[in-house]
Amino acid sequence: MKQISARPRRYSEVIGLGVHRASRVVPNDEIVGPIDSSDEWIRERTGIVQRLWAPDEVTIVDMAVDAAEQALTHAGITADRLGTVIVSTISHPYQTPSAAVLVADRLGAREAGAFDISAACAGFPYAVGLADGIISSGESDYVLVIGVEKLSEWTSPTDRGTAFIFADGAGAFLLGPADAPGVGPTIWGAEGAEFDAIVVEPSWTDLRKQVASGGEFVWPTLHMQGQKVFRWAVSEMVTVCHHAIEAAGLTPDDIQAFVPHQANNRITDALLRGLKFPDTVSVARDIIMTGNTSAASIPLALDSLMREGGAKSGDLALMVGFGAGLAYAAQVVRIP
Ligand code: UT7
Repeated sequence: MKQISARPRRYSEVIGLGVHRASRVVPNDEIVGPIDSSDEWIRERTGIVQRLWAPDEVTIVDMAVDAAEQALTHAGITADRLGTVIVSTISHPYQTPSAAVLVADRLGAREAGAFDISAACAGFPYAVGLADGIISSGESDYVLVIGVEKLSEWTSPTDRGTAFIFADGAGAFLLGPADAPGVGPTIWGAEGAEFDAIVVEPSWTDLRKQVASGGEFVWPTLHMQGQKVFRWAVSEMVTVCHHAIEAAGLTPDDIQAFVPHQANNRITDALLRGLKFPDTVSVARDIIMTGNTSAASIPLALDSLMREGGAKSGDLALMVGFGAGLAYAAQVVRIP
């Protein structure tokens, strides 16, 4: 029987980081009125002091392209060398085509395969895992991974469970081939039985039926069972993080930076208690000044940590994302 010939296997590494920080600073006081809340409550329950929202005219494609261009510049790679562009988002306002095809076009990535993934707040490490596989298999040399959200458009200002938490922004990694592994194995999963723990509703089909039968048009927005998601993240993500560290052949003592999804500072605190890192580990707390940007939060948080001097090129970072789905993913990466 004839064998299929495959491309030689190899490793991947992150070689570029770029971010787009949304320009509108929204302090807690601007949010609290319609939800009968307070600056104090939001700070105490989440750590958030302000969130960043994009202005009306700025789209997720604009933010993604800005972050991507910075990641390409950081790596010194031109867009025509990209083999794949992956965008992780839940806020692209078109059912099809994907945001990634627009991003690839704007970048000038003419030879790149381009597609979106939907893994919500786990989306960035999901996409990094995919990029690692695509490069390792020899399918592409350079893969751009972008987490981008404009959640201000999908959040109701009167929903007490979500109005204060979500925000906008983008972050990108460029990954390329490497002689030694720069990305550890991805530990991922999902608990679809908890589909409605975080969900954008109504669905388009429900909305169509509703309007056809004379009902009101209700713009779909995020709905979250906050306590349920909080408890799940705190009880399950420590094990997922430990598996990611072990799968990379490391121990918590080998990690220099912890960059969890910026869901809630109290979740980060609880994970830290379970992870037992040495005191020298630096911890990303970008949620305080940026809010929860779902798929964009990990690269944005890594960028802040590096700017503050808490992490540097060559350090090992543990990333973990978790949220709607209830999807989760974690891996160790060497910081570019
Ligand atoms: O990024 C995707 C993944 N998402 C997450 O990981 C989010 C996980 N969940 C959370 O971060 C938290 O559940 C929230 C920050 C969303 C909510 O915090 P919480 O500590 O779970 O609040 P709670 O729902 O348990 O409510 C506590 C109290 C209640 O009052 P009583 O019954 O103790 O008197 C609520 O009525 O806070 C009250 N409350 C509020 N007060 C002011 C609930 N929402 C608000 C509000 N402002 N917005």
